[in-house]
Amino acid sequence: MQTDFLVIGSGIAGLTYALKVAEQCPGKTITILTKARSDETNTKYAQGGIAGVMDFNQDSFTKHIEDTLIAGDGLCNPHIVEVVVKEGVERIDEIIRWGARFDKEPDGDFKLGKEGGHSESRILHHKDVTGEEMERTLLEAIKKCNNIHLISHCFVLDIITQHHLGYLVTKSTPDIECYGVYVLNLSTKKIEKIVARITLLAAGGNGQVYRSTTNPAIATGDGVAMVYRAKGRIENMEFIQFHPTALYEPGVRGQSFLITEAVRGDGGILRNQAGEAFMERYDARKDLAPRDIVARAIDSEMKINGTEFVYLDCRHMDQDNFREHFPNIYAKCLSIGVDVAKDMIPVSPAAHYSCGGVKTDEWGHTSIKNLFASGECASTGLHGANRLASNSLLEAMVFSHRSYLKAVDQINDTHFNTFIPDWNAAGTTAPGEMILITQSLKELKLLMSDYVGIVRNNERLRRANRRLDLLHEETEALYQRTEVSPQLCELRNMITVAYLIVKSAELRKESRGLHFNTDYAQRGEILQNTIL
Ligand code: FAD
Ligand code: SIN
Repeated sequence: MQTDFLVIGSGIAGLTYALKVAEQCPGKTITILTKARSDETNTKYAQGGIAGVMDFNQDSFTKHIEDTLIAGDGLCNPHIVEVVVKEGVERIDEIIRWGARFDKEPDGDFKLGKEGGHSESRILHHKDVTGEEMERTLLEAIKKCNNIHLISHCFVLDIITQHHLGYLVTKSTPDIECYGVYVLNLSTKKIEKIVARITLLAAGGNGQVYRSTTNPAIATGDGVAMVYRAKGRIENMEFIQFHPTALYEPGVRGQSFLITEAVRGDGGILRNQAGEAFMERYDARKDLAPRDIVARAIDSEMKINGTEFVYLDCRHMDQDNFREHFPNIYAKCLSIGVDVAKDMIPVSPAAHYSCGGVKTDEWGHTSIKNLFASGECASTGLHGANRLASNSLLEAMVFSHRSYLKAVDQINDTHFNTFIPDWNAAGTTAPGEMILITQSLKELKLLMSDYVGIVRNNERLRRANRRLDLLHEETEALYQRTEVSPQLCELRNMITVAYLIVKSAELRKESRGLHFNTDYAQRGEILQNTIL
């Protein structure tokens, strides 16, 4: 199969880019691949909303820029922060024109929420299901484009480069090129090659590397792992953001339900199990301090008191407002017997967002030619050591727009490579049993949660590394002899991503932002990205 533009991922980053390219180039073909249902993305689960300066009487670009830089703890690229904050407003207007409905006040102004680290109310939202509304809008718009072909249940295995043509490719090879991808078509169970002139990687995050995460099952870091295998540049992987308030539900595995930070923005108060509002002991901004600080404070309270959760108290809040702003959270809590008007919500931190990823420049170019990256899989320089709440949907739209501008410029000078060999499955046989995969996955999640979580130290990182070595060795051996399956490929990708997180954490000899290592209590003097 050949396509002019290939898009890996059907979240906000992939869909925004595809729509723009389709409109600008009606004569060209655009193919979107997604490994699950088309709407099964991190995007769909976004709750709080999208940050943007809307009220210029109260707010300003300068304030949003400043808040982003403070949260990023010295590692943001100030130029990129300015680009995203300023261009973001046009991108928000655009998705509104495409049909996204954000909540409004009776006078017609947007209802603007507040979240941790924001000095002003600037979060546009659609109740507590903003991501679902944005994903719906984009998928509906995509359906109207005749030149977009969306293929769901199509698992991308690898990016095709000169390596697949038989050349030796290393990190120092100049001009590594992307010619398309190999995919496992989950409907036909066949491995196919899709040759493309330009590819956008929009494969999302990696929260599934941890035992407890707000991310759905698709978030296994495939994009970052593929680029790393293709010898592309990856950076800042140690900065994994833990959301302070995932609903604590003992026995629930996989994805934890999020209690949006907007609840604290509206007045929710964190309390330990003794009922004490503890945040004032940790930060002057209390419950609305940036996420890294709140998550660490909760972690510390849980360790001091030997508990598995703390509480989010909403009992004093206006209950009509609560039900109107957070209907989904209200219903979920009620379904497990928690009436927020009378009961406190049990919460604990969960892996939520990957600040690092595939390194891009200010136009979304990766270090691999003809491969762009946008969204959570990319590291653009916006988030630095800690992402400001609700900046991620914004970043994805800005960088998908910027990638689109360059991609359409470049397309007529980029040609199909017609010499791509078929996938080589020689020597592999059908998998005998799944236990080897499922058990390794459990081990991986446990070791990442126990040794590479919110609080780290050098000994834990060394242990994690040794255990990852073994998992890597066993999984590579299995991969060499077994027919590929999504489960095996995801495990392999997650081990790679875990290795990148641990390696970057070991390289950072300081505590900064989301990376807190008790062996280095202080920030270092030199600010630098960890590039692998
Ligand atoms: P995604 O939306 O995750 O899409 C990734 C796509 O890649 C999927 O279609 C997936 O199937 C596909 N894919 C992955 N691997 C493969 C493969 N091997 N083959 C084929 N396809 C593949 N951010 C905010 O700014 N505001 C919020 O309020 C907010 N709330 C959040 C709440 C939750 C519960 C979560 C989990 C995240 C939240 N975030 C929020 C973060 C934000 O939602 C994500 O960072 C953003 O949506 C990522 O978009 P994306 O397009 O990069 O990736
Ligand atoms: C939330 O709603 O708390 C999540 C916001 C985000 O991750 O940006």
